[in-house]
Amino acid sequence: MNNFPTDKESLVKSLENRDKQFVSELFAAANVIKEKTIGKKVYLRGLLEISNICEKNCFYCGIRRGNPLANRYEISEDAIVESAGNAYEKGYGSICIQAGERHDEAFISKVTRIIRRIKEVSEGQLGITLSLGEQSLSVYKKWFEAGAHRYLLRIEASNPALYGKLHPADHSHAERVKCLGYLREAGYQVGTGVMIGLPWQTAGDLADDLLFMRDFDIDMVGMGPYLPHEDTPLTKICSSGEVSIPSREERLELSLKMVALLRIMMPDINIAATTALEVLDPKGREKAILAGANIVMPNITPTAARGDYNLYDGKKNLTESPALGEIEIGYNQWGDSLRFKSRV
Ligand code: 5AD
Ligand code: SF4
Repeated sequence: MNNFPTDKESLVKSLENRDKQFVSELFAAANVIKEKTIGKKVYLRGLLEISNICEKNCFYCGIRRGNPLANRYEISEDAIVESAGNAYEKGYGSICIQAGERHDEAFISKVTRIIRRIKEVSEGQLGITLSLGEQSLSVYKKWFEAGAHRYLLRIEASNPALYGKLHPADHSHAERVKCLGYLREAGYQVGTGVMIGLPWQTAGDLADDLLFMRDFDIDMVGMGPYLPHEDTPLTKICSSGEVSIPSREERLELSLKMVALLRIMMPDINIAATTALEVLDPKGREKAILAGANIVMPNITPTAARGDYNLYDGKKNLTESPALGEIEIGYNQWGDSLRFKSRV
């Protein structure tokens, strides 16, 4: 047993406790639990941001449909398959294909072909994660049958009222939860996540986010700090003084605490040290690993497009490889969620 209980009231207390010694003990306890349960190794997912065209209009996101300043791109099928092949040669066990959300047939069939071709060029060896938003059950099944086996769909905020403030009225929290169910039904290892340090968000909301992940029995998680993007409605609301967000230091610490608490609650899942952490601290991802994370997603998007997947400010200045110090990497391995393996 450890000294960090995970009922809602205790989670709120831990999230609010800013005592340095408490925080470092929390991180250390989570790291010990990780090493005992799933080992020391960190697994890589090469992240391919294949397009920043998006049908949605989330208030916080720099590539929302309503941002005319975003320079839109879509990488060709051949270039995507080539990047994936290069990643495979370099020892990546897995890649993650991410894009804005689209539902047109051209996009859906393009993704299907890309998955098949990547499986072919890697002789079935490269694991494929998708992060392509809300889709129908039949589309999820089609991509699964083509060879993808993990899917990330962040709930963003598990509290429907908070979700409602961050999205236009036609974006549905209930639909998103339904999609997480479809993903499980289709056979994927299912990942979700939230943003941390959002306007209006309370410690109670964050505790509920952790409980949501536990109750859904999620296989993997990617969560990170909210980072304002200057051309978004949410940033305008914050600069009008209507509502504020925690400081950069607080958002970093809160994000690391969320990783640590989730690791204590769900010892055998995969938890990503997300890119957004790196914007707040050059050692952000390394710190997340020492607080319980076990997945890193280096960006392998072809460089010509890389500057334009700007979800938040500061992203384009990041370097390709995160500072990982002495961390041991699981090359050529899928690094599947042990939670998933023990459930199926
Ligand atoms: N700050 C932090 N994360 C963001 N995302 C989108 N916009 C922002 C932002 N401004 C995250 C969302 C989405 C993921 C692809 O990027 O959680 O699911
Ligand atoms: Fe599109 Fe995702 Fe950005 Fe929302 S967060 S606008 S769905 S890319």
